[in-house]
Amino acid sequence: MNVLGIETSCDETGVALYSTTRGLLAHTLYSQIAVHREYGGVVPELASRDHVRKTLPLVEQVLADAGLDATELDAVAYTAGPGLVGALMVGATLARSLAMGWGIPALGVHHMEGHLLAPMLADDAPEFPFVALLVSGGHSQLVRVDGIGQYRMLGESLDDAAGEAFDKAAKMLGLPYPGGPHIARLAEDGNADRFTFPRPMVNRPGLDFSFSGLKTHTLTTIRQLEADGELSDQDRADVARAFEEAVVSTLVIKCRRALEQEHLSRLVMAGGVSANRNLRAQLQKALGARGAQVYYPAMEFCTDNGAMIAYAGAQRLAAGQCDGVEVQVRPRWPMTELPPLTEASGAAG
Ligand code: KG4
Ligand code: ZN
Repeated sequence: MNVLGIETSCDETGVALYSTTRGLLAHTLYSQIAVHREYGGVVPELASRDHVRKTLPLVEQVLADAGLDATELDAVAYTAGPGLVGALMVGATLARSLAMGWGIPALGVHHMEGHLLAPMLADDAPEFPFVALLVSGGHSQLVRVDGIGQYRMLGESLDDAAGEAFDKAAKMLGLPYPGGPHIARLAEDGNADRFTFPRPMVNRPGLDFSFSGLKTHTLTTIRQLEADGELSDQDRADVARAFEEAVVSTLVIKCRRALEQEHLSRLVMAGGVSANRNLRAQLQKALGARGAQVYYPAMEFCTDNGAMIAYAGAQRLAAGQCDGVEVQVRPRWPMTELPPLTEASGAAG
């Protein structure tokens, strides 16, 4: 089965072609970062307009890259939520129109399920069951995964998502949007012993997160340094390092706790923040020492992309799921509402 995947939930237009027999055939990504940078964050209306311009040419490009004709496609998968409503509508409308014109089924995919399944695109794909740490710009979640669509929420952020916290800390340090990769780069030059930032909620039982206190602590530290004059490059690197260490060790502690609680030995990490090398290394070290295995997607499939949507959609479409003809998106959509794979019903509800 050849599935075209379209991702337009936020500021990246991702398009890919996945074959259930041959794997990923082609994928391409257009990032709108330059469009939004001067505003310091994503401007929803500009995001929608850019998806309108870019999606169809990218569809043509992946078909050409894969050497496929549209008549060889069996289905279209698109992100139906969660995300920005206008951006989602662009992808959903185009996907459904193409599917209708080609006379093939279409399915709305859950963006976080796409992230969650992205590690399955790798050669050493994890087996079920496992605990997933989903850390993106909009979500921080620990989920028990027993199969596709069999999700139990173990814990989540009570306020800012991990990626959002990175972006806000970056802004405080005068770094461009999106800040996660910039903080990570700056932190490499930072001295880990200069500041120790709080590890939020690690002394409380449970698996929920909270990053807003850490954000306040970061701002207070910057203000204190500013009181003594302008921040030096070393000051900024040391703050970035302390911030990153605090987020990483909080996530590592919660992941370890989740595996113990669920008596599982596989952890799958996905979402934009899973591109963070320090997080990957520390999870590997802490969990590997306990005999657990850590899985994460290839770097290019950590942040938003079309391949994860094509893959997740293909699994459900191959099991007989597809949507009706109406275009529906769900800007808010709890992942636990998704049906299991065996249940042949529309996933976008
Ligand atoms: O999954 P994603 O591309 O989009 C959402 O679904 O939200 O995640 C984007 C988030 C941003 O907040 C970005 O700053 C963060 O992932 N991010 C990182 C890194 N690369 C991206 N955070 C920390 N370290 C990184 N290397
Ligand atoms: Zn995402």
